[in-house]
Amino acid sequence: MPVLVASVLSLKGGVGKTTVTLGLASAAVHRGLNTLLVDLDPQMNATATVAPELDGVADGRLKWSVAEVLDDPSSKVMGRTVRESGWGEHLRVLPGSERTEIHNHPDPGSKKLFRLSSALERVRPEPDLVLIDCPPSLGQLTRSALIAADRAVLVTEPSLFAVTGVQRALEAVQTERAAHRPTLQPLGVVINRFRPRVTEQEYRLAELRELFGPLVLSPVLPDRSAIQQAQGAAVPIHQWPTAGAREIAQSFDQLLDRLMRAGKQRSRK
Ligand SMILES: Nc1ncnc2c1ncn2[C@@H]1O[C@H](COP(=O)(O)OP(=O)(O)O)[C@@H](O)[C@H]1O
Ligand SMILES: [Mg+2]
Repeated sequence: MPVLVASVLSLKGGVGKTTVTLGLASAAVHRGLNTLLVDLDPQMNATATVAPELDGVADGRLKWSVAEVLDDPSSKVMGRTVRESGWGEHLRVLPGSERTEIHNHPDPGSKKLFRLSSALERVRPEPDLVLIDCPPSLGQLTRSALIAADRAVLVTEPSLFAVTGVQRALEAVQTERAAHRPTLQPLGVVINRFRPRVTEQEYRLAELRELFGPLVLSPVLPDRSAIQQAQGAAVPIHQWPTAGAREIAQSFDQLLDRLMRAGKQRSRK
């Protein structure tokens, strides 16, 4: 099976990018897919959840992180940087660090934008799936992630600015697809933290479905405290022993099915 690369992005912070990346990673590990999680966010929440024991994670100053890979995307640097996670043998991590911020230019030269993509081609052994957690902006880091990706997973809450946020993120996907990465496609939009029976949220969800049709992915993710509990304990949601966690874990299984089907379509082309 060829490597499938998925980038998880949004314009805003706090909408659930890291949660969706971690949920998909949990589902992938649960079914035995060899997965690499790439943490492009200088806040490095994903790294702190899957590899809290790594040296330097506590103060954000890792010696080898994705920032060093973006300085020099060689096999040697990749070999030093990709690490085992605390989530078992199926998950490795390309850790984040605060220093990654220096690679977040608003308008970088296009050569720099390909560094992550070339680094990911050098991961050995090759993973089945690469999941990239992006920072909350459309600068160099997120553009690098799109140029490295086959599928873009957009995340939004069902709120007032969701429509414009999703539109702008979709435009960013189309721009990189046209200019740099012909295999890139939007997988769709994950609606996160949905609260049923809240009129405003029901209205926003209907609006998103009307505008984006089949791009709105099923299932919609509800607001569940199990997500925060599992993240706080640095445990995959598939291993968190509550009914709320099981519900969310099943939702991520379905989202992962959709992603892996997209991977199969791609390899038939
Ligand atoms: N569906 C959800 N239910 C409950 N809490 C959630 C949900 N999604 C995200 N959160 C919490 O909201 C906060 C922000 O989510 P996060 O995934 O870190 O967003 P982002 O990566 O987009 O900044 C985190 O504390 C996370 O645990
Ligand atoms: Mg995040």
